[in-house]
Amino acid sequence: MTPVRLPLSMRLIHWTTAALVLSLIGLGLAMTDSLANWRIAGIQLHKLAGLCVLVLTVVRLSLRAREPLPELPAHVSRLQQRVAGLVQVMIYLLLVAIPLSGWAMQGAAGNPVKVFGALTLPQIAPESLVLYGALREAHGFFAISLLLLIMLHIAGALYHGLVLRDGVLRRML
Ligand code: HEM
Ligand code: HEM
Repeated sequence: MTPVRLPLSMRLIHWTTAALVLSLIGLGLAMTDSLANWRIAGIQLHKLAGLCVLVLTVVRLSLRAREPLPELPAHVSRLQQRVAGLVQVMIYLLLVAIPLSGWAMQGAAGNPVKVFGALTLPQIAPESLVLYGALREAHGFFAISLLLLIMLHIAGALYHGLVLRDGVLRRML
C-alpha cells in the first residue's frame, strides 16, 4: 500500500486536462459532422479550450521538471513501469502536438486564431492549402490516437484502483 498523493497542483491539472480533453474530442468530432447553427460558436469554444490544454500542459511539464513524481510502489514491475511511462510520454507529446497542429492549421488556412475576439495570436504556419489539408488530417489522427492511449491509461488506472487496490489510483485522487 502506498499512501503517497501527488502534489495538489498536479492533481488539479490532471483532472482539468482530462475533462477538457475528453470534451474537446467529443466536441471536435460533433462539430466536424454538424451543419447546425451552433457550429461556429462550437469551433470558437473548441479553439479556446484547446489552447488552455496547451498552456496547462506546459505548466504541468515545468512542474514535473522541477519536482519528479514520487516512485511507484515496489510491487509494480519494471516492465509495467516502462509501459506506463511510455504511455505518459506519448500522451504528453500528443497534448502538445494536437493544440499546435490546430493553431498551425488555422494559420495555414489564413484564419488566424483570435482569443475572446480581441487578441490575435501569431500565425505559426505559412498560408497554404496543401499544408492546411495535411495539418487538418494530422489534427484528427493525433486526437484519435490520444483517445486510444487514454483508454489504455484509464484501463491501467482502474486495474490498480479496483483489482489490485494498491493505492496507485489514490495517488491521483
Ligand atoms: C483525458 C484523460 C487523461 C489524460 C490526458 C491523463 C494523463 C495522465 C498523465 C500524463 C499522467 C502522468 C502524471 C502526470 O504527469 O500528471 C497521469 C497519471 C495518472 N492518471 Fe491520468 N489521464 C487521464 C485520465 C485519467 C483517468 C480517467 C484516470 C482514472 C480512472 C486517471 C488516472 C491516473 C492515475 C492514477 C495517475 C497516477 C499514476 C502515478 O501515480 O504515477 N487518468 N495521467
Ligand atoms: C487538446 C486539444 C485538442 C483536441 C483534443 C482536439 C480535437 C479535435 C477533434 C477530435 C477534431 C475533429 C477531427 C476530425 O473529425 O477529423 C478537431 C477538429 C478541429 N480542431 Fe481541434 N482539438 C484540440 C485543439 C485545437 C486547437 C488549439 C485548435 C485551434 C486553435 C483546434 C481547431 C480545430 C479545428 C479548426 C477543427 C476542424 C473543424 C472543422 O473542420 O469542422 N483544435 N479537433
